[in-house]
Amino acid sequence: MSLKDRLSELLNQGLEDLKSTSEQDELNELRVHLLGKKGPITKVLRGMKDLSPEERPVVGSFANEVRDRLQEAIDARKEEIDQKLLTVKLEKEKIDVTLPGKPAARGNAHVIQQIIDQIEDLFLGMGYQVLSGPEVEEDRYNFEMMNLPKDHPARDMQDTFYITKDILMRTQTSPMQARTMEKHDFSKGPLKMISPGVVYRRDTDDPTHSHQFHQVEGLVIDKHVTMADLKGTLELVAHELFGDRFDVRLRPSYFPFTEPSVEADITCFNCGGKGCAVCKHTGWIEVLGAGMVHPNVLKMAGVDSDIYGGFAFGLGPDRFAMLKYGVDDIRNFYLDDERFLNQFSMKG
Ligand code: PHE
Repeated sequence: MSLKDRLSELLNQGLEDLKSTSEQDELNELRVHLLGKKGPITKVLRGMKDLSPEERPVVGSFANEVRDRLQEAIDARKEEIDQKLLTVKLEKEKIDVTLPGKPAARGNAHVIQQIIDQIEDLFLGMGYQVLSGPEVEEDRYNFEMMNLPKDHPARDMQDTFYITKDILMRTQTSPMQARTMEKHDFSKGPLKMISPGVVYRRDTDDPTHSHQFHQVEGLVIDKHVTMADLKGTLELVAHELFGDRFDVRLRPSYFPFTEPSVEADITCFNCGGKGCAVCKHTGWIEVLGAGMVHPNVLKMAGVDSDIYGGFAFGLGPDRFAMLKYGVDDIRNFYLDDERFLNQFSMKG
């Protein structure tokens, strides 16, 4: 067989073998076999030395052609195999966009925060500022400027966590009254603010007591503020949080920083006012303390009590939440038990 025929045969055989390769490794092996130094073409080319000078370039260029064609065929086959692998991979990794997704766990505001948010919205709508104050507070603001000098017996009403002699965990949000009055420029208009936050008392925790709980302080100081304004404001809060059928009643009480002082009751959520075990058969439930700001408190904060006066109130969102949702143990709000908290989820 002539060298040229042998080369033709090698070409055809090579092209045939290529067709049956289906993997990159196999193809690579075949490439090395066909075109490598130890391959059949190289072997044929070694035989060229026996050819005549006329034949040599003809066979030589044919050999190059065979090589080129094989190389091309190998490249083409490589491309095909790559394509096939890609198709298989894409098939396997196909994303079914119609599959339902995994829902992302979403948190929601704590039930107490929900109540505070509602109160904030109500008061913002009436032009109040919403302010927050320090939980680690000076004795001066928490007590003294609230008309409770050092040895005042009413300090016992609020058992206190002291940090130093003069620094304490605030027992009430009322120090924010003094803090805001002190700063307010009354020539620019009345002072209207609420201040929600956490307060601390040295109480032993039980179903109705927690050593930490929330308060929302309210304060309005202007020239002609009356107790009727206080009552109207508290009625709005009751209607907003509980509903229109809830009334407010004021009872005389005592706080060192208000005069007169009142405790506000709202219609019993359980019996609607008829009287039941929850309201001890009175039809009313106590929800907050309030009153007209004491002239001493105004004076100590630098406000002219002959011209200005107003009301203050301190309500407890924890108590509101307990009443609104029939929660019978305040400690639930602080235990971080998701089974409890998720009942108040707003996810609908
Ligand atoms: N600070 C009082 C308390 O903690 C509540 C209160 C606030 C009463 C404002 C009157 C006016 O009990």
